Order: sequence, then structure tokens, then C-alpha cells
Amino acid sequence: MEAGRTGRSPGAAAVTVAALAALALLAGGCTPAAGGVRGTPGASGVQDPYFPRLGNGGYDVTHYALDLAFDPAAGRLDGTARITARATQDLSAFNLDLAGLTVAEATVDGAPASANRAGDELTLRPRDELRRGDEFTVTVGYSGVPEPLTDPDGSTEGWMNTTDGAVAVGEPAGSMTWFPGNHHPSDKASYEIALTAPTRLSALSNGVKVSADPVSGDRTRTVWRQTEPMASYLATVMIGRYETTTGTALGDISVVTAVDPSLSAATAALRAELPALLADQRERYGPYPFGAAGAVVTADGLLGYALETQTRPVFPASSFDRPTLVHELAHQWFGNSVTPESWQDIWLNEGFATYAEWLYAEDHDGVPARSSFEDAFAQDANWAFPPADPPAAENLFGPPVYQRGAMVLHKVRETVGDKVFDEILQGWPTKYRHANASTEDFTAYVESVAGEGLKEELAGLWKVWLYGDGKPAEP
Ligand code: TRP
Ligand code: ZN
Repeated sequence: MEAGRTGRSPGAAAVTVAALAALALLAGGCTPAAGGVRGTPGASGVQDPYFPRLGNGGYDVTHYALDLAFDPAAGRLDGTARITARATQDLSAFNLDLAGLTVAEATVDGAPASANRAGDELTLRPRDELRRGDEFTVTVGYSGVPEPLTDPDGSTEGWMNTTDGAVAVGEPAGSMTWFPGNHHPSDKASYEIALTAPTRLSALSNGVKVSADPVSGDRTRTVWRQTEPMASYLATVMIGRYETTTGTALGDISVVTAVDPSLSAATAALRAELPALLADQRERYGPYPFGAAGAVVTADGLLGYALETQTRPVFPASSFDRPTLVHELAHQWFGNSVTPESWQDIWLNEGFATYAEWLYAEDHDGVPARSSFEDAFAQDANWAFPPADPPAAENLFGPPVYQRGAMVLHKVRETVGDKVFDEILQGWPTKYRHANASTEDFTAYVESVAGEGLKEELAGLWKVWLYGDGKPAEP
């Protein structure tokens, strides 16, 4: 599929370049060929076992500046993505993930680049090859009526137009429906998201609001800045009628909450608890990792689940309850700051967020985590597969990932004791703050904190509870 192409057409010259590159490879690998032709195309995916085409090879994004103009009447998005990245190999071309929409133009370091579409892959070929280590800037101009994705498990994500606006969420792959990027959690970056929309509507995104300025035709451009690293699946946009409340938490963290106006009264009490819940979690998990916080509650019928979108989790009205709020806030540490290296490590998000609910119930409702553990142990659905090895993409958000993931953490607690477990609850998000971590990073970390004497017992725990098939005889 050819969605757009600008600049020099590849044509005969490009064929020659490709032929030379092939010759250089045949001639013996790494020696650059005469004329300096040595770049190769970046990979079209990062080999995630569940989504092989998600993400792209050959570069790391450091910053996304998205300028998005939205026309709710037409449901149309006009976007410019300005992406700053660093090449991790010599590159003749590289890919961005983008689903739907039409690309009108692309540049690399200010020079027109050719743009080719094939499915969800946008391939850009810069005029000049990029050298490993180069920082470069990409701009992509694009537009269209975005469409959500249906996940392997049947849930809906991505950009969703509403009657008077839009909501965009993206776990695990939906962010590619509204901006081009390296859409795999292993490549985190800072963001600035500018939303131009009718002035009568609210326009929210991640992080701190830095400006809101009128532009022509009763429209306002609102700019949100997410300075700490963010995985693209945690980016969000809400445009519509919302009642917004601003305040602070934990001293100087800016809090912005937004609710559908019809939900104002019903959600007020729980919204007011947010600063206290964050303070409670800071006690257990260490410093809050971001400069902003909040929550968005949408009318039912749009989102089928709550999501931990960075700094500003989103909830359908029917899931805005205390356990779910605790869960999504805990994700700010577990998932958003410490982000999975690959989708296979998703239990590190959901197991911890579920365990945060158990801890809340233990601390505030008199329900020991051991009883939550036993309730989970008794449910057959939690034994369908091991949390560290979901059989397929459709299982990534299945019950074993949440409940059996939390059970693993409880077994760790019973093995190392409460004192060391408390150290782990703070030490793990400290060690991998704003970074990525894998299941193996986690088991190695726990073993290092627990000490040599518990190594064997922990190895048995991982084998049975984390990686093993079926239900152990004893809880
Ligand atoms: N990660 C979300 C949570 O906080 C839930 C979620 C995101 C989800 N995408 C999903 C659940 C797709 C089911 C299907 O739990
Ligand atoms: Zn979750």
C-alpha cells in the first residue's frame, strides 16, 4: 500500500544503492563499501514473541512532539509528529508503526524522505544515510479519520471517536492508530502532545499542562508535557465535555482530574481520595515517579476496561471504584516507571497492581493478603497458564497474569519475610525507575536481596509458581 510519498522518488538511483549495499554484504560484512554505502534498513519489528511487528529496529526514540488538530464533527485528525531519535546502526531506511491514516509528507533532518506504507509499517528512506550514534529528527505529516483496533482478546483500543470528541488509549498496540512511532514498550521517550480542538471542549493528555492558547475559528491549542520517559502504550488523549479539577498531591505534584459532567457528583468522594491514596502508596513503593497525577472518568459504553495511562489513568464510570483506582495508581510505579522489556513480562505490571489491591485490603479493610491469595488459589481460571508464559497474545490480560502474578509476589513475601519483602517493594521500582525490566531481572533482583541462603528455595518458587503449568497441591 502506498499512502504517501514525497521528496526524491527512489527510482533507478535507489536500486543502485540497494545493489551496492547487497554487494558490500556479500563482499564480507562490516567493511564499508567504497563511497561510504554501508547502511542497511532497520528491522520492521523488535521480535516481541506476541507481536513480532511491533516496534522497529535500528533506532531509539528520545522524544515525540505531537501536534494534533481534531475536528469532532468530521472525526478527522490532522497530525504532525516530530520525532527525535538516535540511530543504533547505520541506517539506509527505517520503519515507524502506523495503522490507518494517510501520510502526506515526511522529512529526516529537514530533508524530504520517501515514505512507503505496507500494512502497519511506514518505511522512511532518508536522503542521506544515518550513521550509528547519529541523533536525527523525523517529521511526519498525516491525517484521516482514525479507527480503533480490535485486540487478539476482542477488546477495543486506539483512537475512539465519541459523539462530541475522542478518547485514545493504546495498550498494547493502539497508539499506532493515532501517531507514527516505535510502538513497543522497550523504547520509552519523553512527549509533548499539543491538542487543537473546539474551545468549548476539554482537551487532556499525559503529564503537565504547559499552555492553552486560542487559535483561529473558536479553537484552542492545549499543550501537555510528559517529561519522564513513557512507553507509547501509555499515551492518552481525551477531547470532549469534561468537568476538570486541578490541585496538588504529595507536596508539589500537579493533579488534574476530569469526569464526564453526568458523573460529577457520583465520583466526587473517590476523586477526593486520590492524594491520600498516592501518599499511602508512596509509603510502600517509594517516591512517586512522575511530576503529575490525576484520573479521567468517562461515561460507560466507550471503554471496556480501566487503563493506567501515564500520570492520568482512565476509567469507565462502572469501574471507577477504590480497588480499581488503587490498581491503576500502583501501575504508575509498576508498569509505567518500571516498564516491561517485552509483552511476555506483562505479569510484572498486572501482578504488582493486583498485589497493591491486596495490600490495600490488608492495610485498610482487615483482609490479610493471605486470604486474597487463598481466594485466588481456589479459582480454576487462575491456573490456565503460568503468568510468565502466556500461551498467546489473546492471553496477555488473562486471569493468571493478574491473580497468579499476585500469588507469585505473595509467595515471595512468605519466603523472604515481611521485612525483606517491604524492601523489595521499594527497591525494585527504585532500581528500575524510568527503565525497562524483564522477568529474569525480577527473579535475579529478588535473589540478590534475599541472599544466598534463600536462592534454592526461590528457584523452586519460580519453577512452580511463575513458570510451572497447573496448580500446586498446597497454597
Ligand atoms: N492494563 C489494564 C489494567 O489496568 C487493563 C487492560 C488494558 C486490558 N488492555 C486490556 C484488559 C485489554 C483486557 C484487555 O488492568
Ligand atoms: Zn492493570
